[in-house]
Amino acid sequence: MYVCLCEAITDKQIRNAARKFQVTSLKGLRQILPIGRECGKCIRQTREILEDELRIL
Ligand code: FES
Repeated sequence: MYVCLCEAITDKQIRNAARKFQVTSLKGLRQILPIGRECGKCIRQTREILEDELRIL
């Protein structure tokens, strides 16, 4: 499912990036994916996905 419509980034891409690059923060994720650079509406959901991913790791 798309999380960031502006940049066409899916939840799967976020989870994959978090695992592959061992990202632990939104700031770190944004160095890999251009998420939240436009309207910013996706930030909250991205944070939730990232937190969920960190719980699993
Ligand atoms: Fe992600 Fe707009 S939905 S920047």
